[in-house]
Amino acid sequence: MDSFYINGGNKLFGELEIGTSKNAVLPILAGCILCDKKVILHKFPKYQDTLNMLKILQSIGASCELIDDVAIIDCQSINKCRIETELASKLRSSIFTLGAMLSRFKKAQIAYPGGCAIGARPIDLHIKGLQGLGVKIVDKHGFLYCDGSNMKSGVINLDFPSVGATENLIMTSVFLKGKTKIINCAREPEIVDLVNFLNCLGAKISGAGTSVIEIDGVKNLNGGEYTPISDRIIAGTYIIATCMCGGKITLKNVCVDNISSLLSKLKNNCCKMSIKGAKISLSVDRLPKAISKIETQVFPGFPTDLQPQIVSMLSVARGTSVVVENLFESRFKYVSELKKLGADIIVNGNTAVIKGIPNLYGAQVQSFDLRGGAAMVLAGIVAKGYTIVRDVNHIDRGYFCIEDDLKKLGVDIERIKEV
Ligand code: EPZ
Repeated sequence: MDSFYINGGNKLFGELEIGTSKNAVLPILAGCILCDKKVILHKFPKYQDTLNMLKILQSIGASCELIDDVAIIDCQSINKCRIETELASKLRSSIFTLGAMLSRFKKAQIAYPGGCAIGARPIDLHIKGLQGLGVKIVDKHGFLYCDGSNMKSGVINLDFPSVGATENLIMTSVFLKGKTKIINCAREPEIVDLVNFLNCLGAKISGAGTSVIEIDGVKNLNGGEYTPISDRIIAGTYIIATCMCGGKITLKNVCVDNISSLLSKLKNNCCKMSIKGAKISLSVDRLPKAISKIETQVFPGFPTDLQPQIVSMLSVARGTSVVVENLFESRFKYVSELKKLGADIIVNGNTAVIKGIPNLYGAQVQSFDLRGGAAMVLAGIVAKGYTIVRDVNHIDRGYFCIEDDLKKLGVDIERIKEV
C-alpha cells in the first residue's frame, strides 16, 4: 500500500471544490439495478469504493462507462443476481445491492459485506427487515441465499435507524404492490438523495429525512439523469484541517445544512466563518479551543465519520476535551497512532479524553481505516517535522487524491507509491 510523506507546519490557504458524496453515490449505484434502462450520473466521484461498486454492477452483467466525470450505467443486460465474496467483501455498500436484486429478480445471493474495521458491522437489521417483507433468507457460512418470491408490502419497525438497512429496505419495496412503511428509519442526507434519485426515475417514495418513510409500489422505473449531493464528510475534514493548522480557505459546492452539527461545535472556537449559498469561507488565526464534550449521533447529530478528524484537532487544542463514540464499538483504533505523534489521549470504552498539547511531532504512523487515516494526515499536516502515513489506500476509498487537494492548499505532501 502507498504512503504519504508530509512535512508539517504549513498553514492552509486556497480554494477547493468539494466532490460528490461517496455515501450518496454508493446506494444510488445499487438503485440502478432496479432500472432496466440507461441511467446517467453526473459529477461521478472516482473514489476506490465507488469504482469497486461499478465493478460489482459489471460482475452481474451491467454495462458501466465512465466519460470524464459522467457515469453511464445500463442495467438492462444484468443476467446474474449473485455477488461473489471477492467483490462483496471489499466494501460495506455491496449489501445495498441485495434489496435491489430482490426487487428486480425476486431472488439474490450475496456474501457478507466488507467495510472499515470500526466494529463488528452486523447486518441483522437488514435481514430482519427483509424477512419482515416476506424474504426467506438462509445464511450459509457468511453467504446469504435469499428468496423473494413471496415478498409483500408491509410495515417495518427498525430497532435502530441504520443507514444501510434503511437504504436496503427502500430499494426492496420500490415494486411491492401497495404501501410499505419503514418506521424509525435513518434520516441522513444520503437517504434523502437516494430517494430523490429513485423518485426521479419514477418511484413513489415520501418521508425521506424523517423517521418514517413510505413507499408506494410502482410497476417499473424509467431511465434518467441525476447529480448526487456533495460529500459532507470531505467538507468537514477540510474545515477541521484549517482549524488545526490555521490559514484561510474557501470551499465550494458544500451542502452547509448537512454539516450544521460540526459548524455549531466550531462556533466561537477559532475560526471566522462566512457562508454564501454553497460556498463557505473560513479564516483561522489562533489555536483551536478544547470542546467540553462531543457525542457522535445519527443525523442530524455529530457524524461518527468526522469523529477521528475532530479528535485530531482537539489533540492540539487549548484545554481538555471529551469525545464519546456512540455508533461504532471500535472507532478509536487510530488513537494509538496519534499518540506516536505525541498526543495526550486516554480512551476508556467509547470515551476519549483529549488533553490538548502545544505541538505534535512527526513520526511514522499507520492508517487502519478510511477516516482514521484522514485523521493521521491532518495530524501530520500540523505536526512539526516529517510524518509518514502508511497504508493510505484506506483513505483513497473515500477521498480522491487527497494529496492533490492538500497541495492546492499549500501542504507539503507527497505520495510514495508502494514498490
Ligand atoms: C453507513 O454505514 C456509512 N457507510 C458509514 O460511513 C457511516 O459511518 C454509517 O452509515 C453511520 O452514519 C455507507 O453509507 C457506505 P449503520 P452503515 O447501519 O450503513 C449497527 C464512512 O467512513 N448496525 O447506520 O454500515 C452498526 O454496527 C463509513 O464513509 C447493526 O447493529 O451504518 C453500527 O453500530 C464508515 N445491525 C450502527 O448500527 C445492522 O444490521 C450504525 O450502522 C446494521 C447496523
